Amino acid sequence: MNSFTKSDELLQRELKVSPLAAQTYSKSYRYFSKGFAPSYMDHGEGCYIYDVDGNKFIDFMCALGPITVGYNEPSVNEAVIKQVNKFSSGSLQSELEVELAEKICEIIPCAEMVRFVKNGGDATTAAVRLARAYTGRDIILMCGYHGMHDWSIGASDNHKGVPEAVRKLTINFTYNDLNDLETKLKENEVAAVILEPIQSNGPKDGYLDAVKELTHKYGAILIFDEVVSGFHYALGGAQEKFNVAPDLVAFGKGMANGYPISAVAGRRDLLEQIEQGVFVSTTFGGDSIAMAASLATIKILEQPGFYDHINKIGTILHDGIQERIDKYDLNDVLAVSGMPAHCGVAFEGHGSLSYLDVQSVYSQTILQYGVLQFAIYFLNAHHTEKEAKIYLDATDEAFSLIRKAIDKDSLDGILVGGKVDPVFKRNIK
Ligand SMILES: Cc1ncc(COP(=O)(O)O)c(C=O)c1O
Repeated sequence: MNSFTKSDELLQRELKVSPLAAQTYSKSYRYFSKGFAPSYMDHGEGCYIYDVDGNKFIDFMCALGPITVGYNEPSVNEAVIKQVNKFSSGSLQSELEVELAEKICEIIPCAEMVRFVKNGGDATTAAVRLARAYTGRDIILMCGYHGMHDWSIGASDNHKGVPEAVRKLTINFTYNDLNDLETKLKENEVAAVILEPIQSNGPKDGYLDAVKELTHKYGAILIFDEVVSGFHYALGGAQEKFNVAPDLVAFGKGMANGYPISAVAGRRDLLEQIEQGVFVSTTFGGDSIAMAASLATIKILEQPGFYDHINKIGTILHDGIQERIDKYDLNDVLAVSGMPAHCGVAFEGHGSLSYLDVQSVYSQTILQYGVLQFAIYFLNAHHTEKEAKIYLDATDEAFSLIRKAIDKDSLDGILVGGKVDPVFKRNIK
């Protein structure tokens, strides 16, 4: 059994001076069964990470999406180091900014222009502001998670600290339900419809086309939040995969293999508003290190077969999880959620067991197999059939224990570690 002495020591130290310790909620120690997970990483290699106690895990989290080509990727490192030796943030922009902007406009179907920021939430917020400025309207219809800014988090269950006046301006709509969307478009003067184009098991046939048509029919701007789907399902994101171009798109996470950069892109007339007083500007938006990393990353993503590989491994996992749900007759508590390239297990409670009880058994078991993941997986170029098999063996064992717990209606003798205790309320990831 792994020992986490150094991780535990660091965690206790950090908790005294930094709330929750992990700076991203979903990487918090609270998302893992306590006693079985490391908190601090020492280094990564391909699809493996090594913690500060020297334990090795197959990383199916990929830093929650950013690591698209793999940790410590030589060509990305080389590009970054070359630029580190010149400058990172400078008093003028770098040539890399021109190259990256041209590249984004070349590979992203809807991108006539692009502007770079840092986090996914910066990009979605910029897109929403551009849409509001263009339409002269305030109301936003949203579907998914779009970051920590007031306009979006205010419409979630995690809205503490967001003024009521702001909360009223964003309304949630239901994925894959066109009636719900049209009702809300009819009832409100909507500036923008923003959604994660790939949720649950993906869009129903024609759904994204119909969303676009309805959005335009009611005079609103369509924004795809491709912070997750971008660079994961296809080079051009969900808009390429489903052949539906939005008016604006937000990218983040997978753009630069872990280096911080995000982007808002789309129609020229919308983006040009930035030259006419719509404010989209950050100190680090032009950081050249992340741009060097992004160009090197995209070069790898562009290689023929890159996404075929991701989809092949993803399909093995996706189908393998479903087979095991069927094998242990667990369809009422577990579901495969997502499409092969990025997917996971959704948990429900049963009898006296809560969904977190069920998830805790899963977490504890897969960690013992050396698999780092909390519920969803991301893949990078280095995951192969070998890692997929270990993941599915771990999943098989976890599901057999969940079956046992449900049959006994108890975790006694099954859950040895502490329970998973998420930071986010459940309506968002
Ligand atoms: C779909 C989606 N949009 C936006 C965001 C916000 O990105 P960031 O955390 O980089 O601000 C996230 C983050 O998880 C996301 O999943």
